[in-house]
Amino acid sequence: MGYVGPQDSLDVVLEGLRRLEYRGYDSAGVAVLSEGRLSTAKKAGKLANLEKELADAGLPASTIGIGHTRWATHGGPTDRNAHPHVSADGQVAVVHNGIIENFVPLRAEIEATGVEFSSETDTEVVAHLLAAVYAETPTGPGRLAEAMRAVSRRLEGAFTLVATHAAEPDTLVASRRNSPLVVGVGDGEYFLGSDVAAFIAHTRDALELGQDQVVELHRERGVTVTDFAGTVVEPTAYSVDWDAAAAEKDGFDWFMLKEIAEQPKAVADTLLGRLSDTGALVLDELRLTEQELRDIDKVFVVACGTAYHAGLIAKYAIEHWTRIPVEVELASEFRYRDPVLDRSTLVVVVSQSGETMDTLMALRHAREQKAKVLAICNANGSTIPRESDAVLYTHAGPEVAVASTKGFLTQVVACYLVGAFLAQVRGVKYADEVAAIVDELRALPEKVTEVLATMEPVRELARSLATEDTLLFLGRHVGYPVALEGALKLKELAYIHAEGFAAGELKHGSIALIDQGTPVVVIVPSPLSRESVHGKVVSNIQEVRARGARTIVIAEEGDEDVVPFADHLIRVPRTPTLLAPVVTTVPLQVLACEIAATRGLDVDQPRNLAKSVTVE
Ligand code: G6P
Repeated sequence: MGYVGPQDSLDVVLEGLRRLEYRGYDSAGVAVLSEGRLSTAKKAGKLANLEKELADAGLPASTIGIGHTRWATHGGPTDRNAHPHVSADGQVAVVHNGIIENFVPLRAEIEATGVEFSSETDTEVVAHLLAAVYAETPTGPGRLAEAMRAVSRRLEGAFTLVATHAAEPDTLVASRRNSPLVVGVGDGEYFLGSDVAAFIAHTRDALELGQDQVVELHRERGVTVTDFAGTVVEPTAYSVDWDAAAAEKDGFDWFMLKEIAEQPKAVADTLLGRLSDTGALVLDELRLTEQELRDIDKVFVVACGTAYHAGLIAKYAIEHWTRIPVEVELASEFRYRDPVLDRSTLVVVVSQSGETMDTLMALRHAREQKAKVLAICNANGSTIPRESDAVLYTHAGPEVAVASTKGFLTQVVACYLVGAFLAQVRGVKYADEVAAIVDELRALPEKVTEVLATMEPVRELARSLATEDTLLFLGRHVGYPVALEGALKLKELAYIHAEGFAAGELKHGSIALIDQGTPVVVIVPSPLSRESVHGKVVSNIQEVRARGARTIVIAEEGDEDVVPFADHLIRVPRTPTLLAPVVTTVPLQVLACEIAATRGLDVDQPRNLAKSVTVE
């Protein structure tokens, strides 16, 4: 986060950091410039620790400053390793996201000049280098930006850097390669942030920065963007379509609770304008021609974490509706195994933040191999959609809790839209079949509302599970990825060991885990599902129960077959099999959230995690 303008910079920067804290929260720091001197404060732990320290000690009044919340890569989360890092001469303060891969030789080079390092971070090399290069750069307008370009050219890896210099009271500079950075343009004031949340309380006017660019924000001269060589480039301007209130807790105890409650609207907004009255899907925004879509003979869905689970669900729907083979891959594995890609391959990258580095690298690899890349993304102006051939935005609004909920549900819905649209364009489905899918999609928000209205018994059940040390989740067909997602939510939020299994696979080894009283959550498919998957899952419930499991069963209203074998029964509305994850995931979110809260944990910011992981 960076600020230059008429307001008190510490206030603006701290407020921005509060809104960005979900990106990383193991330490935090600020630097402000006042009367030719830089003052810094930094503290391990959450931002609240730093705020407390500042409340006691304070910093000089200032109108230019930078700040950072950290998710540690090089060097543990200590006060010393917290950003900003300051050069040995005290002239430069810098904050950094990403990893400087060549920091070891750079550090050796700087140490050889007699400089002593005060942290273990890769970032500190930038502070020393920038101070040294600035000293050698001719004076005049743009001096700090020129020095930043020279430093950036020497760095390898991924970085967003924001820096300030004690001799430049009107200038902030920043540089970016592979890590996110946006500029906010206010009335006589300028902001830098990893995302627009940093400045949304002040302005909705934003500028996107491209790859390998340096930006100078000057109190009088305004914004100047160049590439690393110094050629001026015109940044893309856009307006942020949500307001600050959308990123407030709004009376809920946790952002996650609010975001779970917002899911009916998020799903409805993701469908909005994409379903015509005649039952056809309208995805003009895709930027892929119908001919390109007809030429596709293979689909990969590539993503990380929760988004990967959305991809697993997409496989069932896209293959079933289009008969095109679909493979789903973890982004961090994808390019390293040399996948077979060509012009007729569609790679669907799924990312809520649009900044996940693993996913970004997978997308670049796919494009180098000439595949077409379609991004499913929630964050406007982020890197992944910008670098893709096509984009379908989910309209979930800002998601602040680290564990994804409405982000996930809307990713799943967007995947359905892609599948149904491919089927429509390629003529594999008759118009009335696509119209039937569209009708089913339209019914989803109401069904999610129904599920949310019946969650009190789930919360009560959750409280009784809070002291367990293992939970297992079982599902078949699309229920299998839901089981994986249920387990991930519990691990992320409650730090309880949890595993999701394909219900039929359990008996091939993992059933040995089941002991007297082991809680097993089973996602039961609709009794109307094809090829009696339902009956098989009901048998699987009996198998685990016979071995002592305490069964928690999620089943459709009216499904009486499960009743004798369910120690706890959670009902969801009738939903066509392929779309069922949109309803069956919701109780699992509530369950994990409530278990974590009962255990006294920070639901929105679980330990060790960050929402947007911009390193590989
Ligand atoms: C991080 C978060 C996860 C998230 C994953 C992918 O690891 O902690 O909750 O699912 O990134 O995020 P994306 O923004 O790409 O969907």
